[in-house]
Amino acid sequence: KNRIEARKDELIRRSLLSEEFLEMIQKNKRPFDLLMSYYQCAVMEIETKFRVLNQEYSLEYDKNPIEGIKTRIKSYDSIVRKIRRKNIPMSLTAIEENIKDIAGVRVICSFPEDIYELADSFLRQDDIVLIEKKDYIENPKPSGYRSLHLIVQVPIFLQKNKKMVNVEVQFRTIAMDFWASLEHKLRYKKDIPADQAQQLQEELLACAAQSAQLDNRMQEIRNQLVSRADKGNQ
Ligand code: GTP
Ligand code: MG
Repeated sequence: KNRIEARKDELIRRSLLSEEFLEMIQKNKRPFDLLMSYYQCAVMEIETKFRVLNQEYSLEYDKNPIEGIKTRIKSYDSIVRKIRRKNIPMSLTAIEENIKDIAGVRVICSFPEDIYELADSFLRQDDIVLIEKKDYIENPKPSGYRSLHLIVQVPIFLQKNKKMVNVEVQFRTIAMDFWASLEHKLRYKKDIPADQAQQLQEELLACAAQSAQLDNRMQEIRNQLVSRADKGNQ
């Protein structure tokens, strides 16, 4: 019974907050839509940058370091959830300043070393400002999650001025993405008893370790093939 009550409270709190949020958006409809369109533009800019880099790599080095690019703009629901979780004031400027992953770009790479090469090339571009870097490949999360995260600012050129927009860029290998996607799905499976949850977490952690090993082995194979090709060319 207590659980049902708590659930009800939770729902009320959520819908109240959403109402407050919707009201704020309705009052600021134009500015809110505008802000969201800036994030959309920023994501397009960043995606193009990686397409260009991939093209250059494929012509100059005969390799395609990028397996795929995914982009997304954070949904209203996730924005509301984050406002609540982080106690962010209900205003557009507060949202813009405090939620730095409204615009997201995920770059899926072939090999771990490609991640650092690409990230370096990207950060060397003189219109990109690095705000934050989290290397969960060097230091995986306790869950086992691995990826390189960057928060950057990219300029959007408007009719009269230029606006710097925050974008979160996540770099992963195929193996890292595979693990993260499935772990994400499993994490939202409900009603797992506490004693089993612990065991599941350990199992997922072990899978993460295996996928990291696989990445290293594939990287090793590529390094051997490249050094053989280099010798052949000499
Ligand atoms: P947020 O406030 O949630 O953004 O936390 P944070 O600022 O510490 O961000 P962090 O660098 O931890 O990255 C958050 C994002 O990374 C999430 O939106 C996920 O896409 C991804 N992520 C982080 N940890 C995990 C994890 O354990 N599993 C999976 N599948 N994804 C994760
Ligand atoms: Mg984040």
